[in-house]
Amino acid sequence: MNKIDINVPSSVANVSCGFDVLGFCLQGPCDKMTVKIKKTKGVDIKIINEKSVPTNPRYNVCGPVAFAMIKKLNLNHGFQITITKNIKPGSGIGSSAASPAGTAFAINYLTGNKFSKLELVEFAMLGEEIASGAKHADNLAPVIFGGFTLVRSLEPLDVIKLPSLENLYAVITHPLIELKTKDARLVIDKKIKLEKAILQWGNLGGFIASLYTKNYELLSKTIKDVIIEPQRLKFIPNFKEIVNAASKYTLGSGISGAGPSIFSICKGKTNAEIVLEAIKKITDKKVIKYNLILSEINTVGIKIID
Ligand code: HSE
Repeated sequence: MNKIDINVPSSVANVSCGFDVLGFCLQGPCDKMTVKIKKTKGVDIKIINEKSVPTNPRYNVCGPVAFAMIKKLNLNHGFQITITKNIKPGSGIGSSAASPAGTAFAINYLTGNKFSKLELVEFAMLGEEIASGAKHADNLAPVIFGGFTLVRSLEPLDVIKLPSLENLYAVITHPLIELKTKDARLVIDKKIKLEKAILQWGNLGGFIASLYTKNYELLSKTIKDVIIEPQRLKFIPNFKEIVNAASKYTLGSGISGAGPSIFSICKGKTNAEIVLEAIKKITDKKVIKYNLILSEINTVGIKIID
C-alpha cells in the first residue's frame, strides 16, 4: 500500500462551556486528502482548490506533522500530500485542524499503524500550532477520535473520548468572512474572574454528565459561555439575532471554535431543519453571504475512501 484517500471532517471546538478542551466532530463538510509514499525524501503539498493556503511544507500545517513522523519512524522516503479543501479556512469549523489530523492519520496508515490515536493528536498539534499560534487540540481530538472529546491535559496530552447522545444534529451558520484563530485569540483577556470560572467549570462538568446520563435537558442548560464568547462577539456578525431565531427548537447555540461560524445543537433532524429555516430567514436578508450546514454528529471521525 503506497497511497491512501481519506475524508477528513470538520469539527466544532469549545462548545461554549469548554474553551480549548471540548469539541465534537461533524459529518461534513470534509476535506479530501490523498497521501502517497514518494521514493525520494521530503514532503510535497498540493492544494487543489484554495489559493490562500501555503504549499511550502515549512508554512503549511501538514509539513511539521509529516516531518516529525518521518523522523520518529526513521524513514528514508517522503510523502506527497494532495488536499481538496472543502472546509473553508478561517470559518471556525476546524479547517486548520483537518489537514494536520489527516496527515497524521494517513502517514500512520501507510507506515503500518504504529501510533495510537492519542499519539496522532500529539503529532497533529505541531501543525495546528502554526495556524493558531497556540497549542490546543479541541478540534484535532474529535476529528481523530470521532464524536465528542475532552482534552483533559496538554502536557502530558490526555484525551477522553466521551459518549454521544442519539439523534444529535448541528446547524452551522457560516458567514462568508474569514476570521483567523490567531486574531480571535489575541482579544482574550488572560485573567478571569473567579465567579465566572465557577460558572464555566460547573457547566462543563454538567455538559459531560449530560452525555453520560443521556440527559438532553441538562445538556441544553450547560451550553453557556460567560468568559470567551462576550469577548469575541464583536467578530461574529448578527450573533444575537441568529441565536434568538434558533432558540425555540435548539438545545443551545454558541460560537463555533474561534468563529465566525455559530453552532446550534438540536435533538432530531426535524428540529435541526426548523432551526436552519428560521436562521435562513434572517441570513437571506443580510448583505453578508452565509453558508448554512446541517450535519449529524459524526461519531467515527476520519474515514478511508475505498
Ligand atoms: N479553542 C480554539 C479557540 C478553537 O477558540 O481559539 C479554534 O482553533
